[in-house]
Parts: sequence; C-alpha cells; structure tokens
Amino acid sequence: MQFKTLLSLAGLLSTSVALPTIDVVSNKFFYSNNASQFYVKGVAYQKNTENATSDDSYVDPLADEETCKRDIPYLENLGINVIRVYAVNASADHDACMQLLEDAGIYVISDLSAPEESIQTTSPSWTVDLYKRYTSVIDMFHQYDNILGFFAGNEVVTNSSNTDAAPFVKAAIRDMKQYMKDSGYRDIPVGYSANDDSKTRVPSADFFACGDDDVKADFYGINMYEWCGDSSFSSSGYEDRTKEFSNLTIPAFFSEYGCNAHRPRQFTEVQALYSDEMTDVWSGGIVYMYFEEENDYGLVSVNGNSVSTLDDYDNLKTELASASPTTASASAASASATELSCPTSQTNWKASTDLPPTPNDDVCECLESSLSCVIDSSVDEDDYGDFFGTICDLTNCDEISTDGNNGTYGAYSYCSAKDKLSFLLNKYYEEQDKNSSACDFSGSASLKDNVSTASSCASLLSSASASPSATGSSNSSGSSGSSGSSSGSSSSSSSSSSSSSSSSSKNAGAVNASPLSSAQLGLLSLFSTFFLGGLSYILI
Ligand SMILES: *[C@@H]1O[C@H](CO)[C@@H](O)[C@H](O)[C@H]1NC(C)=O
Ligand SMILES: *[C@@H]1O[C@H](CO)[C@@H](O)[C@H](O)[C@H]1NC(C)=O
Ligand SMILES: *[C@@H]1O[C@H](CO)[C@@H](O)[C@H](O)[C@H]1NC(C)=O
Ligand SMILES: *[C@@H]1O[C@H](CO)[C@@H](O)[C@H](O)[C@H]1NC(C)=O
Ligand SMILES: *[C@@H]1O[C@H](CO)[C@@H](O)[C@H](O)[C@H]1NC(C)=O
Ligand SMILES: *[C@@H]1O[C@H](CO)[C@@H](O)[C@H](O)[C@H]1NC(C)=O
Ligand SMILES: *[C@@H]1O[C@H](CO)[C@@H](O)[C@H](O)[C@H]1NC(C)=O
Ligand SMILES: *[C@@H]1O[C@H](CO)[C@@H](O)[C@H](O)[C@H]1NC(C)=O
Ligand SMILES: *[C@@H]1O[C@H](CO)[C@@H](O)[C@H](O)[C@H]1NC(C)=O
Repeated sequence: MQFKTLLSLAGLLSTSVALPTIDVVSNKFFYSNNASQFYVKGVAYQKNTENATSDDSYVDPLADEETCKRDIPYLENLGINVIRVYAVNASADHDACMQLLEDAGIYVISDLSAPEESIQTTSPSWTVDLYKRYTSVIDMFHQYDNILGFFAGNEVVTNSSNTDAAPFVKAAIRDMKQYMKDSGYRDIPVGYSANDDSKTRVPSADFFACGDDDVKADFYGINMYEWCGDSSFSSSGYEDRTKEFSNLTIPAFFSEYGCNAHRPRQFTEVQALYSDEMTDVWSGGIVYMYFEEENDYGLVSVNGNSVSTLDDYDNLKTELASASPTTASASAASASATELSCPTSQTNWKASTDLPPTPNDDVCECLESSLSCVIDSSVDEDDYGDFFGTICDLTNCDEISTDGNNGTYGAYSYCSAKDKLSFLLNKYYEEQDKNSSACDFSGSASLKDNVSTASSCASLLSSASASPSATGSSNSSGSSGSSGSSSGSSSSSSSSSSSSSSSSSKNAGAVNASPLSSAQLGLLSLFSTFFLGGLSYILI
C-alpha cells in the first residue's frame, strides 16, 4: 500500500486491478469478488455549494481531470476508500476522474439531486422532472464499477413536523431501483442520508429499511456530529445511537461526521467507529470534508494548483491507519438477515407507507394535449403560485395535490407546474359548461384549437386517474397500518399548500436561502448540519 501511494504521489502510473463492485447483504457491505466485508472509510469531496443559487453555479468535482489529478493522491494517501459527492453534472465526462479514483482504490457515493432539483422538505414532490434528473445521473454513473451507491435524498426530513416528505424520497428509491432493473444496469445500491434529529432518527431509519426489496432503501446514512473533541463511546452519544440502530436490517453508516467544535480535530471517534462496539451495527463513515472553506471543516487547503494538508488531515490519516475492524462474512450476514416492520404512525413520525406514484411523462404529455383551456405561455412561471391559489378556490384540486401523511396522491401530482395549472383551468372551464369567458383570467388562460383525442391517450389518462398509485407498487411497501390512521394534526400539505408548492420549485432555492433567524442560528450553531436543496451547509 505504502509503495503504491508513493508511486501515485510521484505522478507515475500505478498498475491497478479493476475494483470489485460492492454488494449489500443484510446490514453490511461486501466486496463482490471475495465476499469479505467492506467498511466505508470516506471523505466528502465537493466544495460547499451553500451559495449555489442555480444549477450551473456548483462545481462538479468529478468533471475536471486536472483537479482530480491534483487531489486524488491526497485522498489515497489519507487511506480512504470512498468519497461522497453532492451534486454532479450528468452531461459532463467523468471517465478520467472515475478512472483515477479506481486506480487509487476509491469508490464513489453520489447524491442524485442538485441544488435546484431535489425533493423539498416543506413542499415535497416526486415529479417527472426529478425523475429525469435522477435517472440522468444513474445513466451517467452506472457504467463505473467503483460507483458504490446513490443517495436519493439528503436531510429531506428535518424534524417531526415534516415527516410527510419521507414517502416521496422512498418513492424515488423504489423508482430508481426499478429503473436500473428495466435498463439492464447493475443493481447499484440506493439509499438516503438523514440528519441526526433526536425525535425522528429511529422511525426514519425503520421507515426507509422496511418493506419488500423493491421499495426499501439499500442502505441508510446519518449525518453525525455528536462526538466533539476528546469524547468517548459512551459519553458522545455513539453508544446510544448504536443501541438504537442495532436492529436495522440494512447497512447504516455515518454519511458525514467530524464535529469541529475543537480544532484541529483529533478524530478520536475513528477508533470507536471501527471497533467491535460499533461494527456490527455501523459500516463506517464519511468525514466532512476535504476542502477547507469558510465553514472550517477542511482537511486540506487548496490554492490554485497547490494543496496544503492541515493538522486535521494528518490526525485523520493516523487514526484511519490504526483502525482495523473485524470483518464479517457474507454468508453469516445472509443467514442472520431479518425483516423490519414499518413504523406505525406516532407523535413524531407521520409518514404513510403508501408511496406516491411513479412519475409518468406519457401521462403528463397526454394530459397536456387533451386540454382545451391552458395557461397562456406569456405567464411567468414565478406567478403560477397566485394562479394556483385562485383556481383552487374555484375548483377542487385533488388531482394535483398530495399528502404524505395519509398517503393520498393526485393522479397528476407529478406533472409539471404548467401542466397541473392548465389541467385545473381546463377543469374549471368544463365545469362552467365550456363558457369561453371561464377560460380567460384577464388573458392568462386561453383556448387551444388543436385538442388531441388520441385513443391511446384517453386510456392512459383514464387508468392514471382511476388508480394514481397503480404504477407505484405501493401495495408492497410493507405494513399499511399507519396509512390513513394519522389524525392529520401536523399535516402541512393541504391542497392549497401543495398547489402553491408545485409552482415554487423553480425558485425554491431563493425561498430556502432566506436568512435564518438568530434563534435558528443559535440552535444550529454547535455542530448541526443544515441542508438546503439537497446540499449541505454547515452553519457556524
Ligand atoms: C477481498 O477483495 C478486496 C478487493 O480486492 C481486498 O481489498 C480484500 O483484502 C479482500 N479480502 C480478503 C479477505 O481476501
Ligand atoms: C456564501 O455567501 C456568504 C454571504 O456573501 C458568505 O459570507 C459565505 O462565505 C459564502 N459561502 C461560501 C461557501 O462561499
Ligand atoms: C455540464 O457539462 C456539459 C458538458 O461538459 C456542459 O456543456 C454544461 O455546461 C455543464 N453544465 C453545468 C451546469 O455545469
Ligand atoms: C423543522 O424543520 C423545518 C424545516 O427545516 C424548520 O423550518 C423548523 O424550524 C423545524 N422545527 C423545529 C422545531 O426545529
Ligand atoms: C431489537 O429487537 C429485539 C428483539 O426483537 C427487541 O427486544 C429490542 O427491543 C429491539 N431493539 C430496538 C432498539 O428496537
Ligand atoms: C358566459 O359567462 C359570462 C360571464 O359569467 C356570462 O355573462 C354569459 O352569459 C355566459 N354565457 C353563457 C352562454 O352561459
Ligand atoms: C397545437 O398548436 C400549438 C400552437 O399552434 C402548437 O404549439 C402545438 O404543438 C399544437 N399541438 C398539437 C398536439 O398539434
Ligand atoms: C402489487 O401489485 C402488483 C400489480 O397489481 C402485483 O403484481 C404484485 O404482486 C403486488 N405485490 C404485492 C406484494 O402484493
Ligand atoms: C388526506 O389529507 C388530505 C388533506 O391533506 C385530505 O384532503 C384527504 O381527504 C385525506 N385523505 C384521506 C384518505 O384521509
């Protein structure tokens, strides 16, 4: 190992054998070539995209061969085997960086979302647009054996007030697993990365781990900042977390860790994480993060082409080098595999196991072409919210609304805001006996003269509206005990909030980026990570 490291650092070609893919068996990861256990020893590798306000303002860390050549020797020398990236450009060429990583023995776990294309905490949806984004990342990365897995969401549920977002993330997991099957790709594991919220962390893990193979998450990450400074297994909270996660039936790991309350960080938690006290339950973790930036979480500081390692880097390297976790065998794991039942609805967890339908673009296209009254193309998408408010007072908006608490999802809820708005305008127009003055709204709505009546569309639309979840295999999502039993007390998605949300996804970044109150900052200041739009922001 040491020899190979030196060679790479010297910029010479290392002769490498292809990395074996990584499999999930029960609650552990295994090398596919020899069924020996794989532990995640990772580092988050992407500049903080806190200020990314549009999708072209983040930097895909795997799209530039030069920066990969600059950084990967430092990652390899650290002794890691995984990097986490948060937002990738699915159209860019990743061959060079993925090859360099493979040569260095490093796997990649990538988030599927992007700053402006993610499942939103307070107005969740699983749409045709998101489906396309997620599948585009999979189309790009499935070809690499050193893709370890994908995150279908990152801290989407943040606390007990927004657990209704969870079914949307789980639907994304279900649909990406199916997409890989249908495309003939390898079954690359798909999971979720949660925050560490005291009230929701256990039911959340159970929610994602429960159910049949075709719906459950393949692994579960939790962003863990509980061990600060010179702590211990018992006083850090790690012991309690390990007990809480002891029955989880899928691999769990720290999708971020490394509290920076005391710097330089000593990373004494590494010994605990890879010790027998934790390895039966946890599969390692990912240190936040490579780049030193304003938020003070870096291992190295980068200036142009030059990289300087910080004390944190050396400390982490030393700790990782002395971690030698015991390895389980896949056959033993397989023999002890169990199933988990889904959490029932409870005070801090209200998320239906009935999942949203699979977004179907054909349905939306048929819908669009079947409508007579549509939103005029002159209307700015930023103004759709007002129209939803108006039209939902005039007609019932069930077909476009969703409620992840009680598991009701309108047949067209996954279509674009434009299609949904036109659907409602047309519905109202028909309810007014097609009086042309009901399709006007001061010129914002207009009548089309070329309405399609293709019979294939008619049957597709009628089957979609008859059974919105028919395409969603929501029947197989495990216990349905919770569905419909929640009182709806904390429901935040009435039809009006859901409809305004459907229009807000375009500017959600701006909405979310509003300054936090000082109280919020105070709450978060110790060590929390806060996630917006699928990317992490560390607040100091
Ligand atoms: C299994 O294969 C991996 C990858 O080649 C290797 O790193 C590991 O040492 C092997 N384990 C055993 C027990 O041979
Ligand atoms: C984001 O913008 C704020 C305000 O301009 C600035 O203070 C902060 O350092 C920026 N963060 C990053 C990671 O660039
Ligand atoms: C993504 O990569 C493509 C191809 O290199 C490039 O044309 C495009 O500008 C990139 N998009 C972003 C958002 O960086
Ligand atoms: C719950 O999360 C939401 C969204 O992230 C946030 O606005 C709210 O303040 C949080 N509530 C509590 C009690 O932390
Ligand atoms: C784990 O499962 C065992 C056996 O079913 C049960 O007794 C125990 O309470 C469970 N632990 C947790 C933390 O759920
Ligand atoms: C259409 O609606 C307008 C405005 O409400 C009304 O004045 C008109 O009589 C209606 N026309 C028909 C044919 O009902
Ligand atoms: C209907 O007409 C509009 C405007 O002329 C055009 O953009 C659209 O493609 C046409 N749709 C069909 C289904 O022909
Ligand atoms: C779910 O429904 C589909 C289609 O009706 C059916 O093929 C499948 O067997 C069902 N799954 C379960 C677990 O009932
Ligand atoms: C689910 O909740 C919504 C409000 O969010 C309500 O309109 C709908 O009737 C409820 N559905 C069921 C089956 O309880």
